[in-house]
Amino acid sequence: MEGPGSALILGIETSCDETAAALVTEAGEIRSSVVSSQADLHARYGGVVPEVASRRHLELVTPVIREALGEARVTLEDVDRVAVTNGPGLIGALLVGLAAAKAVAWSRRLPLVPVDHLDGHVASLYLQPDPLEPPFLCLLASGGHTLLVDVPAHGAFDVLGTTLDDAAGEAFDKGARLLGLGYPGGAEIDRLAREGDPEAFDFPVARVPGLDFSFSGVKTALLYTVRDLGGELEARKADLAATYQRAIVQALVRRTREAAEQTGAERIAVVGGVAANSELRAALPEAKAPPLALCTDNAAMIASAARYGEAIPSPGYLALDAYASAL
Ligand code: KG4
Ligand code: ZN
Repeated sequence: MEGPGSALILGIETSCDETAAALVTEAGEIRSSVVSSQADLHARYGGVVPEVASRRHLELVTPVIREALGEARVTLEDVDRVAVTNGPGLIGALLVGLAAAKAVAWSRRLPLVPVDHLDGHVASLYLQPDPLEPPFLCLLASGGHTLLVDVPAHGAFDVLGTTLDDAAGEAFDKGARLLGLGYPGGAEIDRLAREGDPEAFDFPVARVPGLDFSFSGVKTALLYTVRDLGGELEARKADLAATYQRAIVQALVRRTREAAEQTGAERIAVVGGVAANSELRAALPEAKAPPLALCTDNAAMIASAARYGEAIPSPGYLALDAYASAL
């Protein structure tokens, strides 16, 4: 299929503990999206170990790219552009994806589009079959970030609020650890919370000025409650998970609605790993959320963002660097 919109973008994502590759058309159709999670590898440490992640990305990146090409029934010959996350994230992990992307692009003299991971999460909303058109207000909640952003156009956003301490996903992961649940913790708390009473305990919802967030108070409340419960913890775990999740979700929902009111936004969206949370999705029915597989890290969203980013012609990208923190 030739013609406008059929150009093929190979996306590569290795910013944290997911090794991912995807093929997406210029029109935003996903031809394939392969995500190899390293969660099991890091589970015994209760979090991502950067050096372990880099080494694993190195082993996985080529097979994952091959699998994405195979699933889309194409070869490198069919690829028109390469897109890669070059920040923010774990620097060693990012460098593996960036080196792979440079090698693939340069071998065929293809252009390369560096993609900011946060732009990638927002661009998960631009994929077919049901793309969202800017402008909209977006809550971006993941393991590394919690931001409220105004999205005026494709490829752009203005930050309205951010977390003053932990990211929402990080709060989920740390809470899960306190409860002795597996890693990553968000999905585990989500599952266990369904069996519990969200009003069983009294957890605070932080009141910080403006449109910022804070999750340290609720985390401390959970820590003390777990300590006080002692031997009773096991019997109250589901109630604790439900109460903890309710507090985090309420904080996210309140701030998002306040931001919508202040900016007069007509459309709201939620993206990032925490957007997979079932209570958050139910509590914000007016918000558009990507399908679950596009909430957590993936490369389809990176290829999607590249549709609106600037492509660097070959070989200008060979000197391109990765960055660990938001620019
Ligand atoms: O977007 P993501 O895959 O990676 C980052 O860019 O950080 O987000 C991962 C985060 C983890 O903290 C994980 O616990 C959280 O998303 N998460 C969830 C759920 N699924 C993943 N949090 C709450 N409920 C879920 N169902
Ligand atoms: Zn992410």
